[in-house]
Amino acid sequence: MTDRILLLPGDGIGPEVTAQAQRVLEAVADRFGLSLAFESGLIGGASIDAHGTPLTDEVVEVARKSRAVLLGAVGGPRWDELAVDVRPEKGLLRIRKELGLYANLRPAVVFPALAAASSLRPELVAGIDMLVVRELTGGIYFGEPRGRGVEDGRRVARNCMVYDEVEIERITRTAFQAAQGRRRHLTHVHKANVLDVSQLWMEVVDEVARDFSDVELVHQLVDSCAMLLVREPARFDVIVTGNMFGDILSDEAAMITGSLGMLPSASLGEGGVGLYEPVHGSAPDIAGQDAANPLAAILSVAMLLEHTLGHAEAAAAVNAAVEGVLADGARTADLVLGDDPRDVIGCVAMGDRVLARLSS
Ligand SMILES: NC(=O)c1ccc[n+]([C@@H]2O[C@H](COP(=O)([O-])OP(=O)(O)OC[C@H]3O[C@@H](n4cnc5c(N)ncnc54)[C@H](O)[C@@H]3O)[C@@H](O)[C@H]2O)c1
Repeated sequence: MTDRILLLPGDGIGPEVTAQAQRVLEAVADRFGLSLAFESGLIGGASIDAHGTPLTDEVVEVARKSRAVLLGAVGGPRWDELAVDVRPEKGLLRIRKELGLYANLRPAVVFPALAAASSLRPELVAGIDMLVVRELTGGIYFGEPRGRGVEDGRRVARNCMVYDEVEIERITRTAFQAAQGRRRHLTHVHKANVLDVSQLWMEVVDEVARDFSDVELVHQLVDSCAMLLVREPARFDVIVTGNMFGDILSDEAAMITGSLGMLPSASLGEGGVGLYEPVHGSAPDIAGQDAANPLAAILSVAMLLEHTLGHAEAAAAVNAAVEGVLADGARTADLVLGDDPRDVIGCVAMGDRVLARLSS
């Protein structure tokens, strides 16, 4: 059976890193005998320029019929002045919603060769291997009513944080299942001392926990979690939380590992289509210079192989190739610390190194 993969490179460095990720996916498919068919589409600013909208219905349809979507990044200063509803980021929000991708999995792992790249002391970052499971289609980014207006002569804006128990239960199950395959520890992050929404999360998470007695569950306030992440990051295994807290905490966890350019993500849902993308944005400051780090996109390919194609061996081969090139000393500019004497290589050369490792 041939699996269709939709490539949505997007804007800025998106096309550069996606090209390297595609090369790796093709090579791994060859090696492990997978049959893949690629299709490409536009998203974000590129789609706005071509069609006046950040995501067309046609691309959504192709995505629905694909096994997986491999996305680059969207956005850039060219589109910053547009109204919120037609901005590039709307394309991302829409595709997540259309595909029912409610679970965003963001691993944060410190590769031994990169421990010195963290802003924390090496002894604090050694052994960091956590997974942030973020609810992606609900909460304050989608809640109604929302909008801006003028009331009593004053400008007013509002957004609403809304979750129902089904949304909470399904993401909580995803997180417990992930914890079962790891160190069996789950931290639920909330703000239940202030938010009614968080109180409902507490209730539902406790109910789901009864089905996972082999996983230790801890409820942690979001503010103290933010502190613990920099004080004692290695204590975390799986973290589950809502959309906005997860957005912020996963970026914090990301920076602890050293570089945004190393962080992949998977977005999964009920429909069976998985969406895989690097955590970073379109990096307009380095776009077009062959300076982007493609490893986050390449590690997203490993997640695609594992979660959508169910090929753990192929996924492990990609992860090992990335670990190998880092151990060899290959570095893109973002991975080089101030006085590091290493040669800096570009995006394409980093892709070449990963391919060489894969075939060695
Ligand atoms: N998922 C997405 O598509 C996504 C996520 C975040 C931001 N954005 C958009 O991207 C644009 C830029 O946003 P930003 O600057 O806040 O975030 P960003 O992630 O694009 O860049 C932040 C910094 O990290 C660097 N960086 C990011 N990825 C890198 C990589 N692979 N290799 C080397 N360096 C890398 C950039 O050069 C920049 O200095 C904005 O339009 C924003 O809306 C998109």
